[in-house]
Amino acid sequence: MSVTPLVELRGIVKRFPNVVANDRVDFSLMPGEVHALLGENAAGKTTLMNILYGLYQPDEGEIYVKGKRVRIRSPADSIRLGIGMVHQSFRLIPVHTVWENVVLGLKEAGFVLNRKKLTDMVKKFCEEYGWNIDPNARVWQLSVGEKQQVELLKLLVRRAEVLILDEPTSVLTPQETKGLFKAIRTMAKSGKGIIFITHKLEEALEVSDRVTVMRKGRVVATKPTGEVTAEELANLMIGRPVLFKIEKPEVKKGGIVLEAKGLKVMGDRGVLALDGVNLCAHSGEIVGIAGIAGNGQEELMEALAGLRRVEAGKVFIDGEDVTNKGAGYLIGKGVSYIPPESTRWAIVRDMRLVENIALKFYRSRDFSGMLRIDWHKLFEFSRKLIDEYGIAAHSPSTLAGTLSGGNLQRVVLARELSATQDGKVPRLILAAYPTKGLDVAATEFVHSLLLKHRSMGSAIVFLSEDLEEIMMLSDRIVVISKGKVVGEFLSKEKTVEEVGMMMLKGSAA
Ligand SMILES: Nc1ncnc2c1ncn2[C@@H]1O[C@H](COP(=O)(O)OP(=O)(O)O)[C@@H](O)[C@H]1O
Ligand SMILES: [Mg+2]
Repeated sequence: MSVTPLVELRGIVKRFPNVVANDRVDFSLMPGEVHALLGENAAGKTTLMNILYGLYQPDEGEIYVKGKRVRIRSPADSIRLGIGMVHQSFRLIPVHTVWENVVLGLKEAGFVLNRKKLTDMVKKFCEEYGWNIDPNARVWQLSVGEKQQVELLKLLVRRAEVLILDEPTSVLTPQETKGLFKAIRTMAKSGKGIIFITHKLEEALEVSDRVTVMRKGRVVATKPTGEVTAEELANLMIGRPVLFKIEKPEVKKGGIVLEAKGLKVMGDRGVLALDGVNLCAHSGEIVGIAGIAGNGQEELMEALAGLRRVEAGKVFIDGEDVTNKGAGYLIGKGVSYIPPESTRWAIVRDMRLVENIALKFYRSRDFSGMLRIDWHKLFEFSRKLIDEYGIAAHSPSTLAGTLSGGNLQRVVLARELSATQDGKVPRLILAAYPTKGLDVAATEFVHSLLLKHRSMGSAIVFLSEDLEEIMMLSDRIVVISKGKVVGEFLSKEKTVEEVGMMMLKGSAA
């Protein structure tokens, strides 16, 4: 006897201007099932679930709920169909009470408001799931874990049969995560279906009955959790894209340029993003930082670039203590920083190329006299960079916004790599995801540029989400997980699979 799935998605396609976020995705959820949706950042998990929740309309594909074809035009539609979603960022009203948040909008959901009945219901759920929330507390007073419980209560009170949880553990402590997993199992036992989105493979293994792995918008596998190993999941998640070989010339490693000791740095949410990180980089050496996104690597780069406060520990450049001396000082020491998504954040699209280049040079003695910027010189210099970096632009007057991403990245690199010390080679290049989103030609150019600077004696630290790229470009690799270094080795000492396991499991395999 076959059981009808609670929901079934068939051939879902969702295109955004720059990316196919979902490419013919099939997915189903059975009653009583916990189905993990696993994949790296940007794999398309949230997009798929936003489609099921009615926030996005698919470009192609069909949705079935309990065997019946449906169109879900809005979250109101999906709630009516028994589908509920808890987003990564909660959507509660902080100044209202728990109670008010739970009942808010209930009438629209076709529920007759009956305070006594509702109170009993909330009490029953809290007991069932081991929650201890005061209905009269104001939401801002609650811990993050409790807020999540309120979000779940909202769905339970609306009698949702399908619960979508988008990376629910990313905000939780380990103890809270345990509690959540227990609640999820209880929900499944009562016949509900739970879609559990995560990029952490051990979580998928722990809590789910079935797991679907997405990569680059596609489903690469759906399997019963009991039939897959961590290694298989790691390979499925990260994949092995065919990358062109990189010609890496022999370079004799020089002295230590960067040395960071016991770095502690806070993240934007006020929790420790780096917890005692040691890192060094030599002249003529490329150090690749590997890790699942969000494990502290971006904060590390910002701290090294002088853009984020170091709470404890020290940073030395060429032996000088530069801890918390700030970005301006570090630029003077020959530190170049290429930020993540630089073509968005390091370029002013409404300005001409020459002005974008001037952003870094206007204070340089070469280009300004006592009071004014020497635009003539800057134009000449920009022309030289356009030529040297192969930027496809007619002249320095071209508006930045008219160039492609690959060309804008060339502009950023041209500016950052030639700007540090009035013409001298950078001592240290910090490059955060310098090839992300670039096409093959632009990627090769960035690689060649980093290798050129390596030959000229720069020390280079770079981030990439592409493990193959890290393995090929780096001389040495440092693996970061949860703000700590969990592995360090020469790139030729390990295989992609071994490094992948370290990234995912947070410890040496
Ligand atoms: N509203 C949007 N507009 C444009 N691109 C988007 C939008 N939402 C997501 N994307 C892109 O779609 C891809 C998949 O994103 P997402 O579904 O959020 O991935 P995941 O949840 O697996 O991290 C990414 O490349 C992302 O940048
Ligand atoms: Mg997501």
